[in-house]
Amino acid sequence: MKVPFINLNSRYQQYRKPFHQVLDEIIDSSQFILGQSLSRFENNLSKYIGTKYSVGVGNGTDALILGLKSLGIGPGDEVITTPMSYLASTSSIYLTGAEAKFVDIGDDLNIDPIKVEYAISNKTKAILVVHLAGIPAKMERIKSIADANDLKLIEDCAQSIGAQIDDKFVGSYGDVSAISFHPTKNLGALGDGGIILTNNEDCYEWLKKARNHGHSSRDQCEFWSMNSRLDNIQAEFLDIMLKDLPKSLDQRRSQANLYKKLLKNTVNFPIISNDLKPTYNFFMILVDRRDDLINWLQKLGVESKIHYPIPIHEMNACSYNINSRIDLCRTVEDTSRILSLPIGPHVSDSQINFVCEKIMEFYS
Ligand SMILES: Cc1ncc(COP(=O)(O)O)c(C=O)c1O
Repeated sequence: MKVPFINLNSRYQQYRKPFHQVLDEIIDSSQFILGQSLSRFENNLSKYIGTKYSVGVGNGTDALILGLKSLGIGPGDEVITTPMSYLASTSSIYLTGAEAKFVDIGDDLNIDPIKVEYAISNKTKAILVVHLAGIPAKMERIKSIADANDLKLIEDCAQSIGAQIDDKFVGSYGDVSAISFHPTKNLGALGDGGIILTNNEDCYEWLKKARNHGHSSRDQCEFWSMNSRLDNIQAEFLDIMLKDLPKSLDQRRSQANLYKKLLKNTVNFPIISNDLKPTYNFFMILVDRRDDLINWLQKLGVESKIHYPIPIHEMNACSYNINSRIDLCRTVEDTSRILSLPIGPHVSDSQINFVCEKIMEFYS
């Protein structure tokens, strides 16, 4: 039985017809950049997450960079963050001119609030949280630390669109939050895309200019900035897929529950408390003898992946920044044990049963 890790082709097939219709409409209107389609999607997404504003940009990394800059973060500032993430949550900090300060993770694989508190210095300006694989970080605790220390809070929701803590959506806690629409995300565009969420009107007004060269009007520029806009065609595609997102997240949650039920005596999982509704952008387990297990599954036709094999603080790009890490033992230890299994609309329950059966066989 072949169980691919991801199958974008099958995911996008169902949208072929509506996408072609959108394409025709956009060509007819010739309204490719900024305008009604983008505004409509921005409003719908804000309504879904529960923020006042959103600003569509070129990708999730730009969403983080511009979001950080909108809060005034730049050279001389320190941003506390997790090394257990895709590298863009850290590169975005450095690309503003600020520095990342890494703290260790907890048993949910997300940044540990207790470690955050210890890491605060007089240079700290913000905390940047990542909800890894769509598992919400401990936001109530982290927000209260940010408020008590007058720090800005940024949420990287690249992997967690639609994740909830009780009834509140992640992305609605931060001063600004960033979402990626990379095709591998749970709400994926047909190419790159991203969006910034905020309740802060000043940030919103600044961001609308910042994504568009710093233009304050057609011919005037208020500050030098980049060109990073979410195309109307992508906004229209995303708007169609947004309607199906809650249903597809429910499917991922029930697949994750099946994995957990079948594997509970065989492997470990990140600890997820009952008040959380993760999005399982990928499904993570923690295992011993990982390389052997990967090869065993591969031979049986099951694809697995590691998110991520090198923690960010061990990347070459970080080598000049050795003062920025405290004790990252848990990150290093868990990085050697994490493994992501296939999940999503292309995976059937019988395939999950097969994967679990083979994992149990491997450890028996
Ligand atoms: C946690 C995290 N942050 C940021 C990004 C960057 O998003 P993008 O690829 O859209 O720039 C990604 C995407 O892979 C991500 O997984």
